Amino acid sequence: MRKITGIMVLLLSALWSSGCQRGRTHVEQENTIKIGISLYDHYDAFITQIVSVMEEEVKRKESETGTSIVLVIENAANSQIEQNSQIEDFINNGCDIICVNLVDRTDPSMIIDKAKSADIPVIFFNRELVEEDLERWDRLYYVGAVALESGIMQGQIVVKQYKEKGEKIDRNKDGILQYVMLEGEAGHQDSIMRTEYSVNTVIESGCQVEKLAYAIANWNRAQAKTKMLQWIEDMGDEIEVVFANNDEMALGAIDAYKMMEIEELPMIVGIDGTYAGLQAVEKGDMAGTVYNDGAGQAKAMIELSYSLAKGTKLPKEIELINEKYIRLPHKIVTIQNLKEFVQK
Ligand code: BGC
Repeated sequence: MRKITGIMVLLLSALWSSGCQRGRTHVEQENTIKIGISLYDHYDAFITQIVSVMEEEVKRKESETGTSIVLVIENAANSQIEQNSQIEDFINNGCDIICVNLVDRTDPSMIIDKAKSADIPVIFFNRELVEEDLERWDRLYYVGAVALESGIMQGQIVVKQYKEKGEKIDRNKDGILQYVMLEGEAGHQDSIMRTEYSVNTVIESGCQVEKLAYAIANWNRAQAKTKMLQWIEDMGDEIEVVFANNDEMALGAIDAYKMMEIEELPMIVGIDGTYAGLQAVEKGDMAGTVYNDGAGQAKAMIELSYSLAKGTKLPKEIELINEKYIRLPHKIVTIQNLKEFVQK
């Protein structure tokens, strides 16, 4: 009898600890979604904005559905090895969904294998893996934008303003736009596409261009400022247009001009429409930017996570292309339509 009672106590306590991890009752667990999020670098301004909108979206979704949603956010600090081990921890700690902002977009294999064997869906975002990798399992998704669209729109901003302001932009009046290019990151889909399509759009519109210099500044304001200071020293007024693959680097270029106390800025264009980027457009320091809908991407990730965890449909406004991709459109932002974006 005593032996049977002992076994029952053991069984009960095993049931208790498996069903009530971290002090939650079974009912509470059923009604909780745990999302693990690994960021390639939590100091990236655009990524920080995505995360803060995700946090707001979680609150909204919780009050809409009565389900509690827990976000576990980790910084991979630019190390793929670190990110891989964070994903293992998410799996071991009972995450229902994993969101990955890949460090190395060509190296998602370990993450895919681990998630697949644990049967936990993965939503990759912002740093796009190649299609063959995404095809490796039907519970892999990508949330982002159409990279080349942002480059085309950036080129369109330059063309429009050049046509309107002409000689004010073409400082040496040689009919050619002399430009420098601040590139994000080697191998990043957005850097590659933006660099190519921005300039091609200008050329295709019939304008002549001349590349004076280019440099990789890793999406980073301080690195862009350093490059720009050097270019201003070397080329000064010859620079007529600064293409920056994102707003942070455009802001770095502006910082350099301000530091040199140069008041007449060349045409500087960014991409993202971050809070600071929009402010620079408002001040007239940046000629324009392209809104990269990080808020829409954040909302899509929370909705997709919820629908995967609960087996419910996605809201109508979110389109899941080929059962795998959610892509938010870009928009041109200049002083003319800035108000629409400042309220966002
Ligand atoms: C954004 C950049 C950001 C990068 C990070 C790009 O889509 O435009 O601002 O640094 O993603 O992966």
